[in-house]
Amino acid sequence: MTHAEPFSIPERALDRDCTTLSRHVLQQLQSFSAEAQDLSALMNRIALAGKLTARRLSRAGLMEGVLGFAGTENVQGESVKKMDVYANEVFISVFKQSGLVCRLASEEMEKPYYIPENCPIGRYTLVYDPIDGSSNIDANLNVGSIFAIRQQEGNDESGEALDLLQSGRKQLAAGYILYGPSTVLVYSLGNGVHAFTLDPSLGEFILWQENIQVPKHGAVYSVNEGNFWQWDDSIRDYTRYVHRHEGYTGRYSGALVGDFHRILLQGGVFLYPGTVKKPEGKLRLLYESAPLAYLIEQAGGRASTGTQNILDVVPKKLHQRTPLIIGSTEDVALVESFIQEGTRREQDKVLT
Ligand code: AHG
Ligand code: MN
Ligand code: MN
Repeated sequence: MTHAEPFSIPERALDRDCTTLSRHVLQQLQSFSAEAQDLSALMNRIALAGKLTARRLSRAGLMEGVLGFAGTENVQGESVKKMDVYANEVFISVFKQSGLVCRLASEEMEKPYYIPENCPIGRYTLVYDPIDGSSNIDANLNVGSIFAIRQQEGNDESGEALDLLQSGRKQLAAGYILYGPSTVLVYSLGNGVHAFTLDPSLGEFILWQENIQVPKHGAVYSVNEGNFWQWDDSIRDYTRYVHRHEGYTGRYSGALVGDFHRILLQGGVFLYPGTVKKPEGKLRLLYESAPLAYLIEQAGGRASTGTQNILDVVPKKLHQRTPLIIGSTEDVALVESFIQEGTRREQDKVLT
């Protein structure tokens, strides 16, 4: 009788089951330094906020106060949903008494939120979109949370968080949580992009895919074509191009996190260009575009405004919007080529 290798398969499976997010973060940092411990604790708190948000979303329709509007508008003049308010507060509450984060800046707050007791020791700032795609909630469709961690520079004596007005290259970490059929957390600490699935029975995010690389090209183009009438000719020409060539397929969910996740895994391009009503587009640099740009670059893809890398854009204000073209390198380059062509045409018009 031959001896089967007694432990090889179960051991691998067990190893996989045991790679929790916190273990992975420490492996990534390859250090037990104070900074590594802080970042690990920070990621754990973000994961807790994700679990609390996922739990509430999964009970929408069964309990009061989950679905519908809160009856207020945020600083961007958008109607706030009850879940926007809940998730915004969840992120604050998980960082209270953490000693980790002095400030949180979010889509739902005009000014950053300070946790003064953390400030003498917590040198980090969390920037976040608590619920991305919140118009999907009432239809029980996917939504997400987006986050980035930045080091606080200086003492912020003015209370204006002016040090946040720096490019996305200043991000120490970024990621998102996708609340879909399962809850998935994707993050990078500047050493690859890694995805975890929430195992509700364990209450842990378990490693699903490590070092994700976005394909160089994909079939998906993801854009709200209802804005066609509001676009520059260059974006119209790009969409006409994909309509008239074989090999493209449109996918648009109304939640950036969901559309981005598909493209990260399968390739393609997401775009939200400027419109007549919103010349800078809809998406916010600090807590939507820059964190996802950080992830896509880590995965071998690109993120652009059309003329500049998103990670090089220096914001002038906290809630600054920016056009976004993000995904596979070849597909982003194709959109950029139409924009360059449009600029050339404009210049020619001026000269003649
Ligand atoms: P948020 O819910 O955080 O305001 O973000 C919504 C964003 C983004 O998730 C999505 O891609 C886009 O808005 C959809 O906007 P349109 O409805 O204009 O297409
Ligand atoms: Mn959003
Ligand atoms: Mn939001």
